[in-house]
Amino acid sequence: MDYEAVDSFFAERLVGEDEALAGARQDAAAAGLPAIEVSATQGKLLHLLARIAGARRILEVGTLGGYSTIWLARALPDDGEVVTLELEPRHAEVARANLDRAGVGHKVRILVGPATETLATMEGPFDFAFIDADKPNNVRYFEAALRLCRPGATIVFDNVVRGGRVLDTQSDDPSVVGTRALVDALANEPRIAATAVQTVGAKGWDGFAVAVLRQA
Ligand code: SAH
Ligand code: DHB
Ligand code: MG
Repeated sequence: MDYEAVDSFFAERLVGEDEALAGARQDAAAAGLPAIEVSATQGKLLHLLARIAGARRILEVGTLGGYSTIWLARALPDDGEVVTLELEPRHAEVARANLDRAGVGHKVRILVGPATETLATMEGPFDFAFIDADKPNNVRYFEAALRLCRPGATIVFDNVVRGGRVLDTQSDDPSVVGTRALVDALANEPRIAATAVQTVGAKGWDGFAVAVLRQA
């Protein structure tokens, strides 16, 4: 018995990935995209967090093949919207097909380009944000989310643990440096309350940071 077996147990018993989600994972892999989407249990957690937040507009940074996007879109009412930002046109194409097949295409706008540039052109308000792209830009994405999210909104960051590398003060890996800078930014921002939780399972040892913006 191990972490992955327990993750599979919960995924089978509680999550029940349907054909659209399994297909999104498979088609992304077949198209040569890296298999770095959130796990099924993590995707369902994002979905539930968005529902708990009562989200109607969601910002996502880092679409890949749209796997997490499907989970988030399914948390929305029919007139809700996910705006998801992706650098790679090829990833956006695969995501578009996966989202349409999942029946949530009408709720999702994919904006292709470097997210820092796209974010600079955007207006809020968003109720929920999921930040899961290039980690060196995490502080910039956090700052953009602060600007674009309404008071009381939820912001979730993926990959803040990375097998414990977040503790490496000497690291010159830009992803580690970016993640440590994000933790500092979260710690120093008076407008939010934040925590981070470690996760184990299908994606190894990693974790999410969760922040909630102060009410107005
Ligand atoms: N959220 C997805 C996984 C995203 S993987 C899921 O769980 O299903 C990270 C994605 O961020 C990749 O598709 C990568 O191309 C994209 N990305 C990397 N740098 C980026 C940038 N500067 N702007 C926008 N997207 C970027
Ligand atoms: C990587 C990126 C991710 O967002 C993730 O969840 C896992 C791995 C990566 O770039 O290696
Ligand atoms: Mg990730």
